[in-house]
Amino acid sequence: MDIREKMKRDWDRRAKVDPLYWVAATEEADEASYQESAEHDANAFLQGLGDRAAKSSRVLDLGCGIGRMTAPLAKHFAEVVGVDVSGEMIKQAEVLHSSVANLSFSANNGTDLGDYEDESFDLVLSYSVLPHLPPEVVASYFQEVNRVLKPGGWYRYQFWVGPERMMANNDTLNIRVYPPEAFNSLNRDAGFELHEIDEIDYLDPVLQLKPVWVNVKKVGAANLEVKLDGRCEADDSDDEKHLEGSLLIYLANKHLDRGELNEAEAVLEQAIHYDPDRPEGYIAWATIRVERDDIKGAFTLFEMLTTRLPDFAPGWVFRAQAEEALSRKSAALESIRKAESLADDPDLRTLTGEIRERLRGMK
Ligand SMILES: C[S@@+](CC[C@H](N)C(=O)[O-])C[C@H]1O[C@@H](n2cnc3c(N)ncnc32)[C@H](O)[C@@H]1O
Repeated sequence: MDIREKMKRDWDRRAKVDPLYWVAATEEADEASYQESAEHDANAFLQGLGDRAAKSSRVLDLGCGIGRMTAPLAKHFAEVVGVDVSGEMIKQAEVLHSSVANLSFSANNGTDLGDYEDESFDLVLSYSVLPHLPPEVVASYFQEVNRVLKPGGWYRYQFWVGPERMMANNDTLNIRVYPPEAFNSLNRDAGFELHEIDEIDYLDPVLQLKPVWVNVKKVGAANLEVKLDGRCEADDSDDEKHLEGSLLIYLANKHLDRGELNEAEAVLEQAIHYDPDRPEGYIAWATIRVERDDIKGAFTLFEMLTTRLPDFAPGWVFRAQAEEALSRKSAALESIRKAESLADDPDLRTLTGEIRERLRGMK
């Protein structure tokens, strides 16, 4: 597969499930926190930019998503253009911000800025995009940003600098961290002079690192070696599945906390489809089905779980409970036996013992 297609496929899928969550990943995962994040991040962008770009500037937002930061910035500059690999994100951005006259959006191929003329922008921004890209795509974009910027133009972008962390070349989600030397040579070879690096006030719990905003100025032509053959694995890497699956479960739980059962079910369907080897999705969805008095629906999910993960003992206990609720005594006994054969765990035995006891009283 070509990396351009994979980036488009993955981000289109995310945009269809919940664009607000996937562009901002706020803790509350709701509309209010999305709006707050837009205001906060646009302000941080403007503050760190200072007076480097005039009000008359033409600005490009690279990887604009649904225009979360692009739209607020339109109040501060003469013209703002958003570009993104995902046609779905762009479609939604256009609907959301159709009334803003000096704002436009378009989809690109995910590696270059071929739709834009040389030296046609005063300022380029990119937030929460570059760290998701393979390094050769980042190099291609740095070269392109240099090309579309006017001499002396500014590029302000978000990045991660620290102990190196590189992912599989087709991973479109996990964060890549560049060691300082690679970061410095990337800027230098792309014809940029490094001016400021400001820490962003967010500590990533996994990386134990904070991202940064970087201000660089175009001081010459790019002299980067860009080796972009583009071929990559079509299947998602385990790291990617793991992160996407856990974020979807997080999002579904937030919907559940707010009593938004339909939304939670829709997200859980995606979670199971995307990462079928993760039990939490089936269990959370079955729990909603039980809450909705749909025991058959819950049973179907536990049947899917035990078929997909036959060695996961708790799956058989859940299945036995659903079978008990459906008065399927012999099937429930069979599921209990299966669970007990898989795990010698006292808590699990207590549960299976209680179910067996109740089944005894059943005809
Ligand atoms: C986490 S979102 C951030 C969106 C936006 N910058 C914001 O802060 O709201 C990442 C965005 O990058 C876009 N993207 C991913 N790979 C891209 C690529 N190769 N070229 C352009 N956009 C890309 C995605 O479609 C998605 O909209």
